[in-house]
Amino acid sequence: MGFLSVLTMAHRWVAERAEPGSIVVDATAGGGVDTLFLARTIGPGGHVYAFDVQEAALELTRERLDAEAAAVAAANAQGSERQPASPGRRGGLAPVTLLHAGHERMAELIAPEHHGRVRAVMFNLGYLPAEGSDRDVMTRPETTLGAMNAALGLLAPRGVLTAVVYPGHDGGDLEAAAVGEWTAALPASVAQTVLYRFPQKPDAPYLLALEKR
Ligand SMILES: C[S@@+](CC[C@H](N)C(=O)[O-])C[C@H]1O[C@@H](n2cnc3c(N)ncnc32)[C@H](O)[C@@H]1O
Repeated sequence: MGFLSVLTMAHRWVAERAEPGSIVVDATAGGGVDTLFLARTIGPGGHVYAFDVQEAALELTRERLDAEAAAVAAANAQGSERQPASPGRRGGLAPVTLLHAGHERMAELIAPEHHGRVRAVMFNLGYLPAEGSDRDVMTRPETTLGAMNAALGLLAPRGVLTAVVYPGHDGGDLEAAAVGEWTAALPASVAQTVLYRFPQKPDAPYLLALEKR
């Protein structure tokens, strides 16, 4: 059967803490997989903020969200023709604010009324894996740690921060180490931290997370 992948485990830890109507953040929108997951998880009553420094990434994310919204509308239209409120009906997505900005600016760009109310912040570090993307545009330890400190301030008590790190990428090893040191140094009175890793694959991505006290 095997253990869950780091990406699936990140989704699980978020889904256990973010509920319908929550405020959540995708700190690295990329291709939009996590943004879509967040928008589905919290539903129309919540709000997702998604950051990326690349317009191309935000465009991919927008396309993914639009495709899902169209699929939901089509499924619901079909369901209401056959039988209103059939079990096959699919829930809607949360509104998503796409921000063409570095995640290190999240405290400035997230609405003040949402500060201290954020239930989850997801980071998936590194570069955009899409075909033809510029792999020199990647997350960097200085800005990543600034963003994580900001995220900690924005989280609600028992809110979660997840970070998938890539020790096998050029530069990713230093970033993974920096994030690991940062999580290890957090006082237990501030947050509980956890590491999910496959020790037989030292170069494979792994997951660090924290739950705010
Ligand atoms: C591994 S990808 C994210 C994958 C994404 N979570 C998904 O589900 O498809 C990393 C992304 O981080 C973005 N990035 C790099 N530096 C950033 C920064 N300072 N703030 C926000 N995003 C950044 C890159 O442009 C890239 O799209």
